[in-house]
Amino acid sequence: MQNENQVEKINRHDFLKKLGLSGASLMAVYCGVTMTSCKNEESTTPATSTGKTVTFDMGTTAYAKLLTKGGYHVDSANSIVIANTSDNGYVAVTLVCTHEGQLKVQYATNKFMCTAHGATFDNKGNALSVASRALTTYKVSQTGNVLTVTI
Ligand code: FES
Repeated sequence: MQNENQVEKINRHDFLKKLGLSGASLMAVYCGVTMTSCKNEESTTPATSTGKTVTFDMGTTAYAKLLTKGGYHVDSANSIVIANTSDNGYVAVTLVCTHEGQLKVQYATNKFMCTAHGATFDNKGNALSVASRALTTYKVSQTGNVLTVTI
């Protein structure tokens, strides 16, 4: 029998289990409801090549910003960020950040960056800060105003 002055020590996990939470719902509580916020860099799978090609016609309004150094386009449907870099020509990288796998890679001030936690990557996709692994890069070829990215 417990003395009234004794405080039963219980950890957070046991407390949540006593509330009836288990498995995925327990993980959701730990992770602040969204499971993606619990990913760590080691569990983020790098993009793999599919051989699919995606074209960007810079003669059209949608992609004309790629004609200017520093201009970039995010193709969410294909998880690509393509940029006109000042020192490396056209570079296409995955939209998936290597830090925690969020789809928040953009291009600004001569580098790729992720808006989730501020990871930065150089114009070859190499990690500069926050993340330790490089972004997957894709082959880009140009014919006239049309850029073709092989993903
Ligand atoms: S997911 Fe953390 S910086 Fe991109």
